[in-house]
Amino acid sequence: MKLVTIAGTRPEIIKLAYLIPLLNTNFDHKFVYTGQHFSPNMSDIFIDELKVKPDYDLQSNSSDIPTMRTKLLPVLKNINPDCVVIYGDTNSSMAAALAANDIKSKIIHVEAGVRDFDMHVPEEPLRIQIDEMSDYLFSPSSFCTTVLSYENISGKVFTTGNLIVDVCKDLSKIAISTNLPESIPQDFLLLTLHRPENVDNPQNLKLLMNHVGSTDYPVVLPVHPRTKKNLSNFNISVPSNITMIDPLGYMKFLSLMLKSKLILTDSGGIQEESITIKKPCITLRHTSARWETILLRSNILFPPDREDNLDEVINMMIGAKIHRNPYGENVAEKIIDIMKSELIK
Ligand code: UD1
Ligand code: UDP
Repeated sequence: MKLVTIAGTRPEIIKLAYLIPLLNTNFDHKFVYTGQHFSPNMSDIFIDELKVKPDYDLQSNSSDIPTMRTKLLPVLKNINPDCVVIYGDTNSSMAAALAANDIKSKIIHVEAGVRDFDMHVPEEPLRIQIDEMSDYLFSPSSFCTTVLSYENISGKVFTTGNLIVDVCKDLSKIAISTNLPESIPQDFLLLTLHRPENVDNPQNLKLLMNHVGSTDYPVVLPVHPRTKKNLSNFNISVPSNITMIDPLGYMKFLSLMLKSKLILTDSGGIQEESITIKKPCITLRHTSARWETILLRSNILFPPDREDNLDEVINMMIGAKIHRNPYGENVAEKIIDIMKSELIK
C-alpha cells in the first residue's frame, strides 16, 4: 500500500505534523510539499521545528493551481501511489486533488465538510469540489459530518476529529514555559489577519485597524505577508496600541496564544486552537467555517462593518466559560486505524 501526503501551506504543515511520522511507520509513504507558502517564516521554520521534512519539495513559490498541478504530476506518476492524502482547502489542496485524479489514485480528504456557507470565500468552492472528488472523507467534527450528510458525496465519511488537537495540546505543555520577547506587552490581545475579504479590501482593512485601535488593550500582531504588503500598498497606518511583529514559529506563536487574554483573528486554524486551549476568540469576519466554536460560545463573529464597540465584545468574551472541545482527541492515531482497516483488505 503506497501513500502520498501533499501539503503546501503553513497550517497544513502544522496540522499534519503528528500524522506524517505515523504514516511513515505504518505505510510505504512519501510527503510532498508543493511550496505554495515559500518564505522561510511561512514554511521552513515549521518543517524544521516540527521535524516533517518533505521527501519532495516542489518549490512552486506560487498559489497558482495549474502551476502546482503541473509540478505534482511527474512526481505522482513516478511514485504511483494507491492513495493520496490531501489536507484542507487551499489552492495547493485543489492542485493535489486534480493531480491525484489525473493519475487515477484514490483520494483521502482530511478536514472534510468544513463550510463557510458563502461561495465568495475563495476556499468554499475548493472544499466542495475536493469533497466530491474524494473516496474517503475524514471529518473534524460531528457538525462537519452532518454537513456532509446533506451534500452530494459519493465517498465514505468518518468522523475523526481535528489533527490540530494532538499537536496543540501536546506542544502547549512546552510552549507555556517559553519566554516571550521583551517587546511583548502585559495583558495583551493576540491579533492575526490574512483573509482576502479583510486585507485585500482597503476599506475593510481600515475599519479593522480602527476597531482594534479603539480598544483599551495592547495588541500583538504577527503579520502575514499578504497583510504586510497590503498595509503598505494601501498606505494604512497601524494604530499605536498594536505591536506588529514578523510571523512566528509554532512554539512561540502557541506561547503567545496561551499567554494572551483573548484572540482576535480571521484564521480558521486559530479558531480551532483557541477552543482547544480554552482561550476566548473573536472572529473578525461575517462568517466562519468553525461553527462548532460559535455554537459552544467560545467564539463570536465581529465583521469589519459592525458599528458596536469592540471593547464591549472583548470584555464580554474574556469571561466566556469554555467547557468543551468539539474536535476530538488522539486524532492522528484514529486516522491511521481507519486507513489500515479501509485500505489494507
Ligand atoms: C492561503 C490559503 C488560505 C489559508 C492561508 C494560510 C488559498 C486560496 N488560500 O492564503 O486558505 O488560510 O494560505 O495562511 O489557497 N506570501 C509570501 N510568502 C509566503 C506566502 C505568501 O510572501 O510564504 C505572500 C505572496 O505575496 C502571496 C500572498 O502572500 O501572493 C498570498 O499568499 P497565498 O498563498 O496566495 O494566500 P494566503 O493568503 O497565504
Ligand atoms: N501560526 C504560527 N505563527 C504565526 C501565525 C500563525 O505558527 O505567526 C499558526 C497558528 O497557530 C495556526 C496556523 O498557523 O496553527 C494558522 O495559519 P493561518 O492563519 O495562516 O491559516 P488558516 O488556519 O486560516 O488556514
